Amino acid sequence: MNGKAEKDYSQYFQPPSLADAKKRGKEEIQVHYEFEIPPEMRGLGEGKFYMIRTYGCQMNEHDTETMKGMLEMMGYRATEDKQQADVILLNTCAIRENAEDKVFGELGHLKALKAERPSLVLGVCGCMSQEESVVQRISQKHPFVDLIFGTHNIHRLPQLLQEAFFSKEMVVEVWSKEGDIIENLPKKREGMRAWVNIMYGCDKFCTYCIVPYTRGKERSRRPQDVLAEVRDLARRGFQEITLLGQNVNAYGKDFEDLDYTFGDLMDDISKIDVPRIRFTTSHPRDFDDRLIEVLSRKGNLMEHIHLPVQSGSTEVLKRMSRKYTRERYLELVGKIKRAIPDAILTTDIIVGFPGETEEQFEETLSLVREVQFDSAFTFIYSPREGTPAASMEDNVPAEVKRDRLRRLNDVMAELSRQSNERMQGQVVDVLVEGESKNNPDVLSARTRTNKLVHFRGSRELIGRIVDVKITETQTWLVKGELVEQPEGAKQAI
Ligand code: SAH
Ligand code: SF4
Ligand code: F3S
Repeated sequence: MNGKAEKDYSQYFQPPSLADAKKRGKEEIQVHYEFEIPPEMRGLGEGKFYMIRTYGCQMNEHDTETMKGMLEMMGYRATEDKQQADVILLNTCAIRENAEDKVFGELGHLKALKAERPSLVLGVCGCMSQEESVVQRISQKHPFVDLIFGTHNIHRLPQLLQEAFFSKEMVVEVWSKEGDIIENLPKKREGMRAWVNIMYGCDKFCTYCIVPYTRGKERSRRPQDVLAEVRDLARRGFQEITLLGQNVNAYGKDFEDLDYTFGDLMDDISKIDVPRIRFTTSHPRDFDDRLIEVLSRKGNLMEHIHLPVQSGSTEVLKRMSRKYTRERYLELVGKIKRAIPDAILTTDIIVGFPGETEEQFEETLSLVREVQFDSAFTFIYSPREGTPAASMEDNVPAEVKRDRLRRLNDVMAELSRQSNERMQGQVVDVLVEGESKNNPDVLSARTRTNKLVHFRGSRELIGRIVDVKITETQTWLVKGELVEQPEGAKQAI
């Protein structure tokens, strides 16, 4: 259409390889503090609009905030209207096949728009871009895409956009290099809740998972940089901060010069004046006693722990290379519950992993009941090219997988309903996040344990922490009434 030749992109990266990836990590991570947008690029977006579609996890959501920050420093303004956008970026997720399908579907829709307005710059970034097969497919089937870049070089967005404007060819820049840490990137945060990366990448190599390949090796931000960012957000009045990492419990393990763990970081952050601190995600393997002790002091550390278990069968966990057994997981849960009796646990579970038998699936059901998770993200196993599990025989029939998912979700719904019923009559403090979706007179809020609460109240309460008495419970939602507050109490900072 616009003369872009088909090219071989294999020079940019290797396909996922466990053997190669496991060799990584020897070279030192560099932290770069000197990020700036070159002055000549600052006006590039004057009078123009951008739109970013984000797929996947909070890591991606937060990367989108960074890209928005850079685009706005270049003069671009946000739009939700495709027709108005001069730049459209798809920040993609590769975790399961259906995540990728959505992006290819969207590219199909955008083709017509690009044909109408050839000046539109259309970019694909995020985890899918780190896969060679995806880049090949885009170059062959969607040659109207102008720009592809990966997860390690989002700080290069200004330069890449400029190149995309002037190049007739598709601009592809994907680094297979692990990625250093770039500090001081601008971020466009909205609302009263903020995400803060504490680390990047993942070295766990669960056999089903693409993330260690798309996000590179585990690397922690320096504590002083994380603490400075949290302090700054506190000063700016943010009410809730969620610390992000694929496996936050591995925080600090890569410091060669410093003995400082995630527990230490949480301890330091608990002293900063932010009402609510959360974190995600915890890998059970590195969850240590120090962290449990720090969390048990509560204060601004919320008693909600997202602790993905994936399966209740030791045999399946072994094939997943999760490096813990059913018993070890239950032991950890026991320890957490003894130290923090009102802690709420949530989890991630995969059903239909290669070779999963009915008995092994039932072990998952029994573990779920034993732990009494409050909620879970549940998934049907999806083979990811290049991961070790993709070469295991995917021998659980599709309808069995669907049936297991349904049975698991039924149990989860029952547990959630029971847990919500236990809240009946309680007075809980909630952070008011906004109006509820269907009724502007009803506010939507979250408890410390991350439960969704709806209650009637004025918009003025948005962004504040207030007390609500629970009056009605449902499966995924509880409803309540505002408890009158003494004047000035629990004001937003
Ligand atoms: N780092 C997080 C998980 C990130 S991915 C952790 O380890 O907890 C989020 C969830 O997606 C995983 O916990 C897992 O349950 C699911 N997932 C990952 N790869 C998958 C695959 N190939 N098929 C199905 N679900 C998958
Ligand atoms: Fe994937 Fe496992 Fe890393 Fe989580 S810990 S991102 S599931 S490899
Ligand atoms: Fe998806 Fe990448 Fe997150 S694969 S789940 S967006 S780390």
